[in-house]
Amino acid sequence: MTATSLDQIISLCKRRGFVFPGSEIYGGLQGIYDYGPLGVELKNNLIAEWWRANVYERDDMEGLDAAILMNRLVWKYSGHEETFNDPLVDCRTCKSRWRADHIHGRCPNCGSTDLTEPRPFNMMFSTQVGPVADSGALAYLRPETAQGIFVNFANVLATTSRKLPFGIAQVGKAFRNEINPRNFLFRVREFEQMEIEYFVMPGTDEAWHQQWLEERLRWWDSVGVPRERITVYDVPPDELAHYSKRTYDLMYQYPDLGPQEIEGIANRTDYDLGSHSKDQASLNLTARVTPNADSTARLTYFDPERRHHVVPYVIEPSAGVGRGVLAVLCEAYAEEMTRALPAEKLQAVTDALTAFLKSVGRSEKLHPEARDAMLAYGEAIGNHLPERLPEVEPLLAMPGAETIELGKKLRGQAQPLIDEHFRTVLRLRPRLAPVKVAVFPLKRNHDAMVETARRIRRQLQLELGARTVYDDTGAIGKLYRRQDEIGTPWCITVDFDTLGEGKEPALTDTVTVRDRDSMAQERVPIADLPLYLREKLR
Ligand code: GAP
Repeated sequence: MTATSLDQIISLCKRRGFVFPGSEIYGGLQGIYDYGPLGVELKNNLIAEWWRANVYERDDMEGLDAAILMNRLVWKYSGHEETFNDPLVDCRTCKSRWRADHIHGRCPNCGSTDLTEPRPFNMMFSTQVGPVADSGALAYLRPETAQGIFVNFANVLATTSRKLPFGIAQVGKAFRNEINPRNFLFRVREFEQMEIEYFVMPGTDEAWHQQWLEERLRWWDSVGVPRERITVYDVPPDELAHYSKRTYDLMYQYPDLGPQEIEGIANRTDYDLGSHSKDQASLNLTARVTPNADSTARLTYFDPERRHHVVPYVIEPSAGVGRGVLAVLCEAYAEEMTRALPAEKLQAVTDALTAFLKSVGRSEKLHPEARDAMLAYGEAIGNHLPERLPEVEPLLAMPGAETIELGKKLRGQAQPLIDEHFRTVLRLRPRLAPVKVAVFPLKRNHDAMVETARRIRRQLQLELGARTVYDDTGAIGKLYRRQDEIGTPWCITVDFDTLGEGKEPALTDTVTVRDRDSMAQERVPIADLPLYLREKLR
């Protein structure tokens, strides 16, 4: 099972501190999010997996971390100043603003067809470098990390003596003044990209493009986003970015959103290196570039076999970190019934849901769109009870739900059943899990048990080099469920037997290790824990 609605993930992220709306105490800032204590671990782990697979496990890749602010000329010659535009229309009736290609002649807010003609809107954020605000001080926050790689091509080549084909990998922030940021982490104004510019001999580019397509699908699979949930969109020529000869968009099946781009894999030809080069006339470029009178470098590669300079072609796999985190969470998410529900309790909650939906249907306080969305979601839940009972929580968190009085009754009926009979579990790949191991004492007021549990946590932290936590803020069953919900693969409990105070002397210096997915428990000697867990983490 995976997430069936984005609201499940948004609610989990908020509840458990994966992601918070940016500047929340001041009312937020649209399209901006902050990663919380668990989110930062998950995001860093995803980035680390990408870096490991693409930089450490290949022998044809170098890493880079270029600055966010770059000379304005970078964006002139990259084509972004001129072409990084979206056509915008304004609704004259309700004054809202939309991307012309996202609506069909009708304002999605008020339904009016009284719209302005489309006008180009550049999505780069501008800022000023230095104290004097003249035109020479203008700079942009980068809208893609890629350009930092292109303008450092000669530096990397000179310092590493690489031969073609080779790639440069970079992870970093990018900024786009999106007109309508929406769908949680999916379309935001500040985000991170994981980008590779892979430089190849012209003529070998199409074969490399196919190879990278396969490679990237394999990688997504390895982090828990299976191939069968991604469709490959061969972008038609009229939709290609200005630099691209051909692009494959990997479209992940996000709940509610349908197939949406998680990564683009473009053949950027010799466009970028050619654009940033001096002496372009002598380079035999195939791409059409803006004449460059400002560059001080010739971004070429000396082919030792044919003894001449070539401008490499570039294959660019470019993935969004936030969209990746969202997909990983959606795939890992499951709500599972751990014990069957008694028939009379099921009937009571079914009745409460039916009464709530009737009240929604009759409500005059609700916006029609909010009402229809709540009815559709509520009916879907009702048709799949008891399995989808935990979705009552996101249903009651939908806009306007708080105005329905019967919501309280529904929550009162549903919540105890959810708590007793269900668990939410994130079946994250262990390497991605924000917390790898949680250690509990069976009794929090037993000094020796607490001390042993804390010692085990510290020792595993050192041995595994990954986040471990100690927790004693509830009964063991509750602690397990809390760790399940954030995807912790293993929980360790220290009990009386561990201390030699139980009924089984043979269990002295052993602990219970509980597996998140199977919920099976195993007795493991404390001394064996590092090896036992390291093997499982591989
Ligand atoms: N250098 C190529 C490039 O930037 P892109 O298709 O515009 O290509 C690459 O962006 C990836 O960056 C996308 O596949 C997506 O994952 C992510 N991305 C782009 N715009 C985004 C936004 N506004 N919010 C979140 N992620 C975004």
